[in-house]
Amino acid sequence: MTRILIDGGEALYGEVDISGAKNAVLPILASCLLADEPMIISNVPHLHDVTTTMELLGQMGVYLTLDDRMRIQVNPSLIDSYIAPYELVKTMRASILVLGPLIARFGQARVSLPGGCQIGSRPVEQHIHGLRALGAQVSVENGYIKAQAKRLKGTRVSMDMVTVTGTENILMAAVLAEGTTIIENAAREPEVVDLANCLMAMGADIEGIGTSTLTVHGVERLHGTEYKVLPDRIETGTFLVGTAMTGGKVRTRGTRVDIMDAVLGKLEGAGAHISTGDNWIELDMRGKRPRAVNITTAPYPAFPTDMQAQFTALNCIAEGVAVITEKVFENRFMHTHELQRLGADIRLEGNTAIIKGVEHMSGAQIMATDLRASACLVLAGLVAQGETTIDRVYHIDRGYENIEEKLGMLGARIRRLPA
Ligand code: UD1
Repeated sequence: MTRILIDGGEALYGEVDISGAKNAVLPILASCLLADEPMIISNVPHLHDVTTTMELLGQMGVYLTLDDRMRIQVNPSLIDSYIAPYELVKTMRASILVLGPLIARFGQARVSLPGGCQIGSRPVEQHIHGLRALGAQVSVENGYIKAQAKRLKGTRVSMDMVTVTGTENILMAAVLAEGTTIIENAAREPEVVDLANCLMAMGADIEGIGTSTLTVHGVERLHGTEYKVLPDRIETGTFLVGTAMTGGKVRTRGTRVDIMDAVLGKLEGAGAHISTGDNWIELDMRGKRPRAVNITTAPYPAFPTDMQAQFTALNCIAEGVAVITEKVFENRFMHTHELQRLGADIRLEGNTAIIKGVEHMSGAQIMATDLRASACLVLAGLVAQGETTIDRVYHIDRGYENIEEKLGMLGARIRRLPA
């Protein structure tokens, strides 16, 4: 199993290109199932979850080719299977995103139940409730969600909680339904907006994009299009936090400034100087130690849960005491136990972590438990004195493109060790 070795203590300096957003490219690839013509998706990040999605769609008869400019050409005209098998779903929960498109376009779907994961139970009853409201017959048998419908019928779907993939699934189902669907309490994450914009480019009719009420007027068919995936705000934030922690100066290029408010606000609160341009964000923290910042996670536009672990790492070496409250996932503090091995002072109380910043952490052998936890541990390794080895680092390849190359270019002493 591969590990990452970091020799800590170098500040990050330079410029780094931000990749396409993982959480946007996955639903956009799933949306290709809705089209009756080829699609071209560009700015695709080279990630393990993208490979898994390509494998999943490939098994259904979708023909996919990846060119050297990271564009995927998708030909969905020969689909002959409507199954998302357990073997793939268990490695990537976002596989559930094929459920809405399959039932909308082909009237049938068999998708394995995702089950739990390290960060919580992560049920999908909202996805099922929405599809039933649209007229699908849905049952759960032998660990699979089995859905059938003639043509879905537009209706009012009120989500009990804000769910990102839940909103995306219902949206993708509603675009081909007969009549109008109103999705209430919809997620407003920029990645949901990106999916909606892609669907519009394919001929869908959606109002209220970016708000919590989406009105979808169903259309008969969706055509092919070429669509560029938006930049990854979580990757952007991760590099900026790393720069703040190490006392460096880095410009993230090819990113989006307007979707980063909550994170940039907290970085300024930590003492960073931020400047921005059309598509770049620069953070300058030279000669400073971060100040502690309190964080409470919640759906967009509030502070994203996917940045919680990285800010936990920052607070470990900040001046002062921080309170981090995790309101989206019930068990997203696995990384705190590993941070303690590096010398962090963290106390857990339910969904809250109280962190007393220490002046120095020291390198140790630690283990990644999930995707964002891996990023947090890498950032901690960058500031810990001496060597840190991170095991089970495959998690990081699910969501960060060439992480050690990019950090290496910024001056970090980081490398991957063979199994
Ligand atoms: C997506 C993101 C993930 C991010 C999360 C929250 C993708 C591929 N993944 O995950 O990176 O951390 O949003 O921003 O986009 N819930 C239910 N029942 C449901 C659905 C959700 O109880 O039917 C709960 C979840 O357990 C969780 C909360 O709602 O507590 C939010 O989860 P959700 O937004 O659905 O997360 P994902 O879409 O899986």
